[in-house]
Parts: sequence; C-alpha cells; structure tokens
Amino acid sequence: MSSKFPDHFLWGGAVAANQVEGAYQTDGKGLSTSDLQPQGIFGAITPRVDGDSGIKDVAIDFYHRYPQDIALFAEMGFKCLRTSIAWTRIFPQGDEDVPNEAGLAFYDQLFDEMAKYGIQPLITLSHYEMPYGLVKNYGGWGNRKTIEFFERYARTVFERYKHKVKHWLTFNEINMSLHAPFTGVGLKDDSNKSEIYQAIHHQLVASAKAVKACHEIVPGGKIGNMLLGGILYPLSCKPEDVLETQRQNRDWLFFGDVQARGGYPAYMQRFFRENNIQVEITAEDRQTLRETVDFISFSYYMSGCVTTDEQQNNTARANILNMVPNPHLASSEWGWQIDPVGLRYLLNVLYDRYQKPLFIVENGLGAKDRIEADGSINDDYRINYLNDHLVQVAEAIDDGVEVMGYTSWGPIDLVSASKAEMSKRYGFIYVDRDDTGKGSLERRRKKSFYWYRDVIQSNGNSLKDKA
Ligand code: BG6
Repeated sequence: MSSKFPDHFLWGGAVAANQVEGAYQTDGKGLSTSDLQPQGIFGAITPRVDGDSGIKDVAIDFYHRYPQDIALFAEMGFKCLRTSIAWTRIFPQGDEDVPNEAGLAFYDQLFDEMAKYGIQPLITLSHYEMPYGLVKNYGGWGNRKTIEFFERYARTVFERYKHKVKHWLTFNEINMSLHAPFTGVGLKDDSNKSEIYQAIHHQLVASAKAVKACHEIVPGGKIGNMLLGGILYPLSCKPEDVLETQRQNRDWLFFGDVQARGGYPAYMQRFFRENNIQVEITAEDRQTLRETVDFISFSYYMSGCVTTDEQQNNTARANILNMVPNPHLASSEWGWQIDPVGLRYLLNVLYDRYQKPLFIVENGLGAKDRIEADGSINDDYRINYLNDHLVQVAEAIDDGVEVMGYTSWGPIDLVSASKAEMSKRYGFIYVDRDDTGKGSLERRRKKSFYWYRDVIQSNGNSLKDKA
C-alpha cells in the first residue's frame, strides 16, 4: 500500500521495567508492588521472604543485557523505544529525601545507549508499579501524601534526563485501577468504590502535577496520559444496549476526560451520587487538574461488547475486562478478541473527543511460538495481526487523525503482566526462557523481526491491504 504515515512517524516498540529488567534488588532498588505479585496482576499478593523467587526477579535480564537488545531494536530501525523507569530504583521506599544515585545512573546509561542509534525514549513514570514502602507505610494512593512523593520523583527524573528524554507518559493504563486496585493505586483489591475513586483522584492530581513539572523543566518536552483503550460496542441496536455501552465506555473515557479536558466531566456527578461514592476534591485540586496533557496515548489489543440482556451477559467472559464476546470476531489463544477495524474506530473516537495528537503505545499479539528444526520461528500469525492493525492506523491517518507514532507491545519477549507467563510471547525477538524460569536467555530473531524492519524502512509502504 502507499504510505499514509507522516515522515517523522515514531515507529518502535514498548516494554516496561518490571517485565524486562529483572535485577529486582540490584544497586539499591527497593521492592515495588509488582515484586509482590510474582504470579502477575491477577495472582496473589505475596510478602517477599528471603530465599523465595519469582520469574520477574530476573525477567529477561534487560538490566544487564540492554546494550545487545537496543542494538537489535536499532537493526529493525526503531525510531522510538517506550519503557518505564522503576520508581523504586530512584526512591527505593518512595519517601526518601534524596534519590538513589545508582538507579539514576542506570537510566542515564540506558538513554545514552539509545541515543547512539538515534532511538528516542518514550518514558512512562509509573507502569503498573509503585514503591511497596508507600503502600505499607502510607496506604498507597489512598493517601494524599503520595501525590507529594510522586511529584518529587517526577521532578527528579525530569531534571536528570531533561536533555535526553523529550516524550513522557504519566501512569500506564490509568483506568485499570478500577479492575486491579493493588496494581493501579496500591489499595487492597476488595476496597470499596469510594476508596478506589479517592485514590484515583489523588493519582489524577499527581498526573496533572507531573504535566506541569514537565512543562517547567524539560525544554521542548511533551507529556501524555496513557489509557487502556478498551472500546466497547453494543451487542445489539436495542436503545438500552446503546445507552449502557455509552455508560461503560465512560468508565474508562472518564480518565481521559479529566487528563485532556482539565476537570471532572458532568456525567460523573450522577455516577458518584447513584453509586454513593464520596470523593474529596479540593478547590486547589480542581485548579491543578486544569494542566492538561499534550497528547493522548493508549494501548489497544481488543474490543468487546455490552448487553443489557441478563442471559447473554452471563456468557463466559473472554478477558480481564469482562467484555461480552463479539460474535463477528476471532480470538487469540488467550481469548482476546482480534479487531483491527476497532483500532481505526478508537483512533477516530479519541481524536473527535480530544482533538489532541494520539500515540498508540501498545498493540500486539500474545502467542505461543515454535522453534523449527533449522532454528527459525515463523510467526506469521503475529505478522498478520500487526499488519492488519497498522493498515487500520493508516486508514485513520487518512481520516484526518493525527497519530504521532506506534510502539508495538513487547518487541522482545517479556514476562506477561496479567499472569507472569513467558510463554505468552509478543516479540520480534525470541528470548530463551520458559514459564518456570528455565532457559539460557539467549535472543533470536523471528520472521516478524525482518517483516517489521521492512515496515519501518518503507514507512509503512510494505504493509498489505487485506484481500
Ligand atoms: C497492558 C500492559 O495491559 O497489556 C502491559 O500495559 C501488558 O504491561 C500488556 O504486558 C499485555 O498484557 P499481558 O497480560 O498479556 O502481558
């Protein structure tokens, strides 16, 4: 197809500290909430005791092997790499006055390595983790004081990396706190709605403070939010289904509305009232929230449906978001429904709503890979998934949507977030490690590696329109 992608389109990949780095106690790093979830977000919260181990403790050992991995990303022609800073490398307990120099030095080296190849960092301040010290001693985001600790951390890294990192994101999939409170806001998973929305409110205020700090400190810096783009369709055209779909889409769009429009949307008043949710929002908070993000970033893996029909509503749920399956779509091995057209639709919905540039910072297919006798890995299923989604991104660009870039999720195999599996692979680069932690950690190029290299090199020209 002829390329619709702009000249400076940021092609690349996205990873997160806790899913790749390992070295979970190296160079003064403190324990994070992720370290207490060795089985992933939906596993038990486990206090760490001496001698125990989890797969994320080593992950893919990116902490030590990043020069080799960045070189492979460069070979594919990456313009951009999204990763996160582990807050606990910088402030191990979260409430220190002085940052940990060894942690700061690690990211200096990482960003310098990217710069060698002209790869721009896109850095998430908090990707599904926070210092466990803040959870234990302060109650996580339930405590207003956490806003100060986060602001100190954000200002510290903005100052340190202001000449190396120009693109930032505040909280990964900020709307996931509604489904995974411990991961999102450091609260017990059985917290009540008022507690969860109060913690979310604190996080939204902290996000706005980080936006302000970025604008003050980073010359030419741009900072975005990050939403899980879980777009929902009505299962039928019954008006009640359509209305309920709008309501459920607002559950997640609410976060974008606050971060991109600078305040609570009107529909939340009724939602809070009818659900008996009390949230303390001060006049100063409202003022702070006016500082809005420069761009909207989001992840997109699947869409889902909504119905008011009790019977259909109770059918087996395919994924963590409890979406009702769409009868027109196929699913991945993990039950995630594959919907490339949904990405075009979502891009248009978000652009219509916010009129700000959009950045697709996660998209990809988690699948089991097989190594052939000759050592090759022929992951055509992954190539097809990514091709079809990128064709729809091109369509959205043609629709007039401003898209800054695309970083596919897990360009190198990593530990999955929901269940801490290695066998759920997203990468263009295979990593030799299994679900039990066995393997040499050796890296190997898959067929998709060469495919993505061609896509980037041709700025999307090599993509194939669906027959
Ligand atoms: C997103 C997260 O929800 O989805 C990533 O931001 C995560 O951290 C990705 O890895 C895919 O989910 P999973 O469970 O397959 O790793």
